[in-house]
Amino acid sequence: MAKDQPPAAEEKKPINRREFLNFAWLASLGFLTVNIAGVTYLFSMPRFREGEFGGMYTVGKVSELPPPGSAPVNHPKVKLWLSNTESGVMALYKVCTHLGCLYNWSDQENKFICPCHGSQFQSDGQYLAGPAPRSLDRFVIQAVDPNTGEVVAEARNGEPLQLPDNPDLIIRVDTGTRITGESHA
Ligand code: FES
Repeated sequence: MAKDQPPAAEEKKPINRREFLNFAWLASLGFLTVNIAGVTYLFSMPRFREGEFGGMYTVGKVSELPPPGSAPVNHPKVKLWLSNTESGVMALYKVCTHLGCLYNWSDQENKFICPCHGSQFQSDGQYLAGPAPRSLDRFVIQAVDPNTGEVVAEARNGEPLQLPDNPDLIIRVDTGTRITGESHA
């Protein structure tokens, strides 16, 4: 018999049932961990981006607002009318409180009029006439210091925002927080 014969190649053992189950369990655990991490990441993201309907919307500086008492300004991208009334600034949700049509501002009549069934509202959203059951809904609106980001004034309950005497403050609207207009019934 030859002395220096090379050792026979090690035979590959087939994977047994226990090893297979261990492998499958580890793979499932890895898959589950990746999924949980993905879902957690998605939930930690803000639901709406700044500047789109449902998120925070920057209108501009106080100095850029139309003068108090002038016609409301349409912001169709975020579904609101910005109304600078004699009592303060308001952000009105542009959907009629009757059956959901989009109402318009009438310069001739100096009020909002809904084309569907004729409901009418003042520039501050107060109900005037027609089948709408309540005044217009509005959004939370605030004045923010552009240097510090501090909210220096805020109208949380649908009241007009009284502006502090600083033309550089930024007006922001939270289009994710809608306040239901008062019922007139
Ligand atoms: S939907 Fe506006 S009056 Fe009916």
